Amino acid sequence: MVGATGPVVVVGAAGQLGQAVVRTLGRRWPVTPLTRADLDVTRAADVRATIAAIAPRAVINCAGFNHVDRAEDEASLAFEVNGIAVRTLARAAADAGAALVHYSSDFVFDGETDRPYRETDRPQPQSVYAASKLVGEWFAMDAPVHYVLRVESLFGGVDKQSSSFDKIVGAVAAGGPVRVFVDRVVSPSYVWDVAEATARLLETGAAPGIYHCVNSGHATWQGVAEEVVRQLGVAAVLEPIRLEDVKLPAARPRYCALANDKLKAAGIDMPAWQDALGRYLASRDGGAGAGARD
Ligand SMILES: NC(=O)c1ccc[n+]([C@@H]2O[C@H](COP(=O)([O-])OP(=O)(O)OC[C@H]3O[C@@H](n4cnc5c(N)ncnc54)[C@H](OP(=O)(O)O)[C@@H]3O)[C@@H](O)[C@H]2O)c1
Repeated sequence: MVGATGPVVVVGAAGQLGQAVVRTLGRRWPVTPLTRADLDVTRAADVRATIAAIAPRAVINCAGFNHVDRAEDEASLAFEVNGIAVRTLARAAADAGAALVHYSSDFVFDGETDRPYRETDRPQPQSVYAASKLVGEWFAMDAPVHYVLRVESLFGGVDKQSSSFDKIVGAVAAGGPVRVFVDRVVSPSYVWDVAEATARLLETGAAPGIYHCVNSGHATWQGVAEEVVRQLGVAAVLEPIRLEDVKLPAARPRYCALANDKLKAAGIDMPAWQDALGRYLASRDGGAGAGARD
């Protein structure tokens, strides 16, 4: 995107990641935020016309159908939003000469491993949602300049503090009890760090491709909760549970740490998730969004 002109278009701009991306990229470039009300990404003709009229330097796709369990019964909708719409966006970006940033998920992997996944590892989706995200990755590559950023367990959005991570923080702060998986391993992703990495990839003109864009390190959900307890300095009752204790419609991968060395090699060193947690907790004291790097 070096030397490119035009604004940056953000679709799905009202989501937890979308809001952070709009604010963070807005400090570098003119940004045109488009919420679902402004542009439904499944309406292909509208997408093509909108992108052509704006002639952006980059299109950032923060829209997604993220209801992992509902997707089992709403496969068509999941594939429309997470797959087909990405193809439309990618082709519209290509026609406009714009870069495309698309966010994917750790769920493309089956979780049957014991070391952090790398970008070169083979995806093996285990649910409708996961399959729809993998298809979206393939379609994103229709844009010659594409960045597919796999994120995981997002947290810390401006006003949508409803993620699993955010709920654990809220429950720990309230003293618990907090049910936490002892056998699901994750690499949490602070939305502000993901947004900053997005901006850096675009401004440095990094090589297109897939990047694991998570905070450094990993932990079980129990480990995450213990760190929240430690940093908040509160006593909270944690109730350990195992994946097999919970019957959910969609399968969850068990071990899904992601290695972010490729991002680091591109010059973007993601802070440790514990560091991100500290900034997030400080922002809860100081007001929504204050955890951003400003
Ligand atoms: N959250 C996570 O932990 C996580 C983990 C892995 C990957 N991801 C990926 O990260 C990205 C951002 O996730 P997020 O947590 O920020 O999601 P989010 O908070 O649910 O935001 C998604 C946004 O997309 C909008 N949207 C849905 N369908 C749309 C459509 N047809 N046209 C336009 N906009 C539409 C939603 O609008 P409405 O609110 O009106 O539905 C919402 O504003 C997604 O690609 C997601 O798959 C997230």
